Amino acid sequence: MLKATNLSEPAWQSARTDEQIAAAIKLGRGQMPSFSQLPDMTIAKLVKLVRMMNMARLEAHAAAAVSDSAGPAVGAAPSSSGHAPKPSALAPLPKSSGR
Ligand code: HEM
Repeated sequence: MLKATNLSEPAWQSARTDEQIAAAIKLGRGQMPSFSQLPDMTIAKLVKLVRMMNMARLEAHAAAAVSDSAGPAVGAAPSSSGHAPKPSALAPLPKSSGR
């Protein structure tokens, strides 16, 4: 209803720098209210969270999990051994923001 941006869209993700995302959260954008009361550290962490939504990153993560025969696929029921995905599969993709 609000026509909010799809933040998981790889095209949107690569069109924004971390600084632009931080500014949108802090100052507001379109119908999104400003969150200027949040400490800068919280804004920085929200930027990281927004980056984690990137569908390109999530698909790379899923492909890594499927090709890793030792671990469960993403979305599989947790095994009784409590197997966690390998840390390497959770590593962020290289930043596109040129930092
Ligand atoms: C801390 C919570 C939130 C975060 C981290 C966040 C993050 C973002 C980001 C990164 C964008 C994209 C800005 C851009 O295109 O550069 C966005 C857009 C948007 N957000 Fe949020 N948002 C939050 C809360 C909200 C809330 C509460 C609403 C509901 C009123 C909202 C509504 C929108 C809308 C409508 C847009 C599209 C704005 C436009 O392009 O005109 N957001 N948000």
